[in-house]
Amino acid sequence: MKRTFVLGLAITAAVTGGCKKKQAAPPQAGSGAAAQQDVPKTRPSQQPLPQLPDLELAADPKRAEKIELGHALFFDQRLSGGNDRACYSCHKNEDGNGGHDPVAIGSGDKPLTRHAPVIWNVAYFKGSFYWDGRAKTLEDNAKGAWGGPNMNAGKDNLDKKAAELAAIPGYKKLFDAAFPGTEIKADQVANALSEYERTLICKDTAYDKYAAGDKAALDDQQQRGLDVFLGKGQCGMTCHAPPYFSTAMGAEGGVYFNVGIGTDQPEDKVDVGRTKVSNRPEDWAAFKPPSLRNVTKSPPYFHNGSVAKLEDAVKIMATGGIANKNKNPALADRGLTDAERADLIAFLGGLECPGKLEEPKLP
Ligand code: HEC
Repeated sequence: MKRTFVLGLAITAAVTGGCKKKQAAPPQAGSGAAAQQDVPKTRPSQQPLPQLPDLELAADPKRAEKIELGHALFFDQRLSGGNDRACYSCHKNEDGNGGHDPVAIGSGDKPLTRHAPVIWNVAYFKGSFYWDGRAKTLEDNAKGAWGGPNMNAGKDNLDKKAAELAAIPGYKKLFDAAFPGTEIKADQVANALSEYERTLICKDTAYDKYAAGDKAALDDQQQRGLDVFLGKGQCGMTCHAPPYFSTAMGAEGGVYFNVGIGTDQPEDKVDVGRTKVSNRPEDWAAFKPPSLRNVTKSPPYFHNGSVAKLEDAVKIMATGGIANKNKNPALADRGLTDAERADLIAFLGGLECPGKLEEPKLP
């Protein structure tokens, strides 16, 4: 919590810093093109903006081979218990690489309890994978998805499954290249999947181009929306700070907020989120803020997929979330006008990732 706030302040400093002139007027985001001309210098959108850092990776001479293997594995339904789910099944291009169903439907058509998140830039999370941060590494996360109900290969069956995969002639070549002289177990499969996921970098959105100096990359409405995002709306301070658009990314162990989604039902039915991992009552029904990259492409929204439209998701967040016994005080009604919300949504369109996952030829 403390760290989050520091991050928020750092971002505020980054976007307001460098402006030596006394501020003439507060930013008037979203109030139309005419108002925009009056206060160009104080608008957050006109200040230096943070850019995505490179992902730091330890040297690994076999990384390229692991990526090639992991790419195939990610798309292969033979990993799953029922030969009916690949990792890709729930993280598809057409859904912005998040899920399509409100809660994901696992192998054997069994519904899970949560919505599949967008996985672009997932490798920037540090020690906090899943909505509740229960997995410390991407490798743990991959084993969880593979052995758990997502893929239903069976927690205690993964080493056997890995050996079976490695015995398929086409795969044998890929495994030999990536892990020469190593007995293939679940660890190697999880590592290859994770190396592939570490290539899923989204850093060429309109926002990124704009932050790098291409001022035409965001149009006027999107720039006004960015003002609302960083200013009056306070979206980009505590929870969705650029350049990640999730303050949980880059923060060791993640950060978690209760915004009230899913709490408006009997208490014993509520997904308690982070509390289950941390055992701290203050984490009750708190979840990682997702990155907003690709948010326009990835309905439905929130950890339970309960909100179908982006307009409604923005409205809930900008009016203070859903009241409950543990709602985070960082949320409040920001009093945005309809025009400001429209600008904000136009800006979110500037976070669309142009890349897509390529379908590999399976061995
Ligand atoms: C049946 C759908 C489904 C399948 C199949 C699936 N996932 Fe997911 N994935 C989800 C859901 C749902 C979550 C969120 C679960 C949670 O947080 O409790 C998730 C979360 C993740 C995350 C964490 C993202 C974050 O923000 O922390 C990663 C990474 C991921 N999946 C990768 C994979 C990989 C790798 C595989 C294959 C081994 C896979 N998924 C298979 C549905 C699926």
